[in-house]
Amino acid sequence: MSVSRPLPHDGAPLHVTGQARYVDDIPTPASTLHLAFGTSTIAAGRIRSMDISDVATAPGVVQVLTADDLTRDADTSPSAHDEPLLATGEVHYAGQALFLVIADSHLAARKAARLAKVEIDEHAPILTIEDALAANSRFEEGPRVYQKGNAASAIASANHIVEGTFEIGGQEHFYLEGQAALAVPQEGDDMIVHSSTQHPTEIQHKVSHALGVPMHAVRVETRRMGGGFGGKESQGNALAVSCAISARLTGRACKMRYDRDDDMIITGKRHDFRITYRAGFDDEGRIAGVEFVQFTRCGWSQDLSLPVADRAMLHSDNAYNLPNARIESHRLKTNMQSATAYRGFGGPQGMIGIERVMDHIAHHLGRDPLTIRQTNYYAPQGAPALHTTPYGQTVEDFILHELTEKLAQDSNYVARREAVKHWNAENPVLKKGLGFSPVKFGISFTLTHLNQAGALVHVYQDGSVHVNHGGTEMGQGLFQKVAQVAADRFGISLDAVKITATDTAKVPNTSATAASSGSDLNGMAVKAACDTIRDRMADFLGEYYQVTPSQVRFVDGNVEIGDHILCFTDAAQLSYENRISLSSTGFYKTPKLAWDRIKGEGRPFFYFAYGAALTEVVIDTLTGENRILRADIIHDAGASLNPALDIGQVEGGYVQGAGWLTTEELVWDDHGQLTTHAPSTYKIPACSDRPDIFNVALWDGENREETIYRSKAVGEPPFMLGISAYLALSDAIAACGAAYPALDAPATAERILKTVQQVQEAADV
Ligand code: MTE
Ligand code: MOS
Repeated sequence: MSVSRPLPHDGAPLHVTGQARYVDDIPTPASTLHLAFGTSTIAAGRIRSMDISDVATAPGVVQVLTADDLTRDADTSPSAHDEPLLATGEVHYAGQALFLVIADSHLAARKAARLAKVEIDEHAPILTIEDALAANSRFEEGPRVYQKGNAASAIASANHIVEGTFEIGGQEHFYLEGQAALAVPQEGDDMIVHSSTQHPTEIQHKVSHALGVPMHAVRVETRRMGGGFGGKESQGNALAVSCAISARLTGRACKMRYDRDDDMIITGKRHDFRITYRAGFDDEGRIAGVEFVQFTRCGWSQDLSLPVADRAMLHSDNAYNLPNARIESHRLKTNMQSATAYRGFGGPQGMIGIERVMDHIAHHLGRDPLTIRQTNYYAPQGAPALHTTPYGQTVEDFILHELTEKLAQDSNYVARREAVKHWNAENPVLKKGLGFSPVKFGISFTLTHLNQAGALVHVYQDGSVHVNHGGTEMGQGLFQKVAQVAADRFGISLDAVKITATDTAKVPNTSATAASSGSDLNGMAVKAACDTIRDRMADFLGEYYQVTPSQVRFVDGNVEIGDHILCFTDAAQLSYENRISLSSTGFYKTPKLAWDRIKGEGRPFFYFAYGAALTEVVIDTLTGENRILRADIIHDAGASLNPALDIGQVEGGYVQGAGWLTTEELVWDDHGQLTTHAPSTYKIPACSDRPDIFNVALWDGENREETIYRSKAVGEPPFMLGISAYLALSDAIAACGAAYPALDAPATAERILKTVQQVQEAADV
């Protein structure tokens, strides 16, 4: 049995020996050309003149393209057709591509790109939430509102009310491999594109549009990415389209990769948010009503902002039953990089709102924040009366009561809460804090039709198996999990299964590998394809040996046919010789979904993935410096397809989530220039920032829905466990006085110090 085993990532030996091939490693013809964008340094304005003569005559430059040179519409938006490849008169952000340099080397293209003389009539950029509200600069006419019951009257008649506003910063993806694409022209109109993308079909679609050829003329291949994290769902379009247009124009292979600073300046990031909240509750801390207003800066183009903002709304309940709730969401258009998908896709921003409310309630009542959470949890699965979310989905699979109980015990919660209290009483300078946060994350694309997947499986006559599906590998281990499924269906060992690059010519019309749905969707599609072939073999072999097909079993590399045993290789050979088709496609679509995003009603999610984390931190109240001392996590991956990979996802997700809320700070200056565009100024977690004590376990359970081997999606949900680090820092600050800390995220050392001082000053007066 190859599923559920903790096997290492199939790419691990290749990653550590440098043999793993990324787009930039693909051997290219000697005549390959290299591209770079010339970008705007101005955030908003109109191009008055653009003199590119020095660019065109710079060493190594073959050609320079501006919007005027594009004979066809070359739009790179994944949604609203609002992203011209090169600026067409109007400039919308500092970093926007103005022209494209085609040169004989990467360096020549980049150097030449700096030689243009561009005059832009600058106008005042819309940068802040205030700017955008004042100008009514938005992507939807007004705010979107989802509601249940009557929050305002429930709050008005509640015994207690807390309210507040806080800011939550965005986040740079910082995939180790930057964006990259390579286009190789073929005979006639055909084009092959290699792209570091989570969404090969989108690349195919955009390239076919830009070249004016049908999708059948464009084949996109993606072997692997060096990380995507949502940043390669749509942000690779510009590179692939540029390469394809240039390859068509020159007849030569064209490659483009962003250097790190360009990547950070050009591409979109996580949406930052401001959340205003007001909650009414009883003496036990039970919420009667809650109101959230979410403001998010979407940047200059729509990209995926609407579904991201929707998902933030859909997670503003997190794990809690909100009898009356009103969630208002403002999607603001600003002169910045177009904010895009990032692990959790708005979910983390929505969730941190209610987690902050929970802590605020606990602080207000002087009660334990874990107890307050448990009081407000949704009814457990199997309860006689189940709860529904603010958007009307019944929560049928809620397991956080048991999971929280186990985590509290395993992590020694009660004793450690006491210990932290004592420690804080005795230490005037260093303060410790504990933060607990649960996760309930909805699994499925909220755009329902995306919840489909295809696969293509071949069994060769030597019994080796070629597996292909529409999912992409970005380090999460999808390919290994799916290979395990295939091996299990045929009862063969994993080395008999070949993992192959994602290829739009093998499986068409795929969705992005996103929304954590990669293994759910593609695992099922591959299972269907394998089972078709297996059933054909069983039918034939049963007939051949005069037994019923149900007496044919595929186990341990053999096929048992009644009393006969053939090794799988011989069974494949025999099937081939008897003209049995040993190749099949497979298809899957997620059942039970029905959702109206405009009304905010229905069942957007097939099921929920759960988890919980307890984080302990220490802060220095004189400097704001801080460390995560310990994190304890239990995460629900259902019946895990591969516990080693899943624990890796949980650890990585937690650390990335904690990074978002602590050290990773994006700063734009007053002119809309991103000032944090390199690792020198933007601090992602290092190995040494990992908690010293890091206890990560998987919940022992299975998905109550029929997913692939009853597993659960695990890619994004653990990211939100990092919220516990932010709450722990807030808890440590709370030890400095009586006020509830007004801590914005990311909780950098500077913000911690400022908030400590505010809390201390409030205590002094
Ligand atoms: N893990 C690694 N190592 N690298 C990544 O880029 N992306 C995350 C998550 N885990 C990512 C990752 C995101 S944003 C998603 S949506 C899922 O993986 C996508 O893969 P899956 O659907 O196969 O889980
Ligand atoms: Mo993940 S943000 O859905 O690519």
